Amino acid sequence: MELKTNYMGIEIANPLVIAASSISSMIDRIVLAEKTGAGALVIRSLFEEQIQFDALRFEEALSVGSDRFPESLTYLPEIQHAGASDHLYWIEKSRKAVKMPLIASLNAASPGAWTKYAHQLESTGVDGLELNVYAVPTDPTMTGKQIEDQLFEIVEAVVGEVKIPVAVKLSPFYSSIPNVAAELSKRKVSALVLFNRFLQPDIDPQQQSLRSKMPMSKPHEIKLPLRWTALLYGRVACDLVLNTGVHSGLDIAKSILAGATAVQSASALLKNGIPHLSTMLQELDAWMEEHGYARLADFRGKLSQKEIKDPFAFERAQYITLLASQK
Ligand SMILES: Cc1cc2nc3c(=O)[nH]c(=O)nc-3n(C[C@H](O)[C@H](O)[C@H](O)COP(=O)(O)O)c2cc1C
Repeated sequence: MELKTNYMGIEIANPLVIAASSISSMIDRIVLAEKTGAGALVIRSLFEEQIQFDALRFEEALSVGSDRFPESLTYLPEIQHAGASDHLYWIEKSRKAVKMPLIASLNAASPGAWTKYAHQLESTGVDGLELNVYAVPTDPTMTGKQIEDQLFEIVEAVVGEVKIPVAVKLSPFYSSIPNVAAELSKRKVSALVLFNRFLQPDIDPQQQSLRSKMPMSKPHEIKLPLRWTALLYGRVACDLVLNTGVHSGLDIAKSILAGATAVQSASALLKNGIPHLSTMLQELDAWMEEHGYARLADFRGKLSQKEIKDPFAFERAQYITLLASQK
């Protein structure tokens, strides 16, 4: 079967893209991902907060003893914190190691930093840029509209700054996802990644401490992005990329039936090993053969809200039908 697709304007061999994660922390794994057939790979995010944190520690380390020997700081006037350079070097190294499309990911905190780092990431030779725009809004004086306007401003600035295609990885927590999606699509975003999945700290009641382990997703978690992909398909002028809960080839088939251009997966590969991606692709291929589809375009969006007979199926929020069927 023909699995080629066009993702953010980039031709990829198949719709299975490796999501930003620790898979991209080792060159061996990136090479293995290419060998076992990944369509593309998103490199783990450059987090501005991390750079700021490292820079602070660097300053602290430099100033140790400077109260005793203040002139010691002037001995090293040319020393500066490396900033994002480690991360950029890592991407350049990855770029040299593989031919498949690579997408950089950025999570910045301050407004000017988004464009600064976007520009630096572009210069590494990546094929696209994904903006990981989520931050937990904790300021009670900030309204939802202000948060969304900030997002639009950042995206507009980055899209204006770089020449490579830009995707936005969204959180599912906006009041109106269709409005946010439409506004982003107006700003020439190439793809929306639905959705990011966040680290939710847990509390250990025995130790009375926080647990910050990132649990892997479960396959049932695909339902949230599946619904939104189906609702948005054909209503925005950019690609929809389904992310969260893609664990098998049938999950890829489901995502494309809902209207996804491509999918992103991390947990399934971290749990089962990177070669699991070739199993997922074989499953997709076998499913397409069984159902008589030669190309992804033959069934993309077939079960989106636009295409199905019951347009309210994806909107139904209550349990009325379910309860009626169980009487
Ligand atoms: C170990 C790990 C590291 C991750 N690092 C990032 C990251 O740097 N940037 C980002 O946008 N998402 C990151 N994610 C989130 C994934 O890209 C993805 O959105 C999430 O895991 C849901 O997909 P899944 O169900 O296939 O795991 C990470 C996830 C995991 C498990």
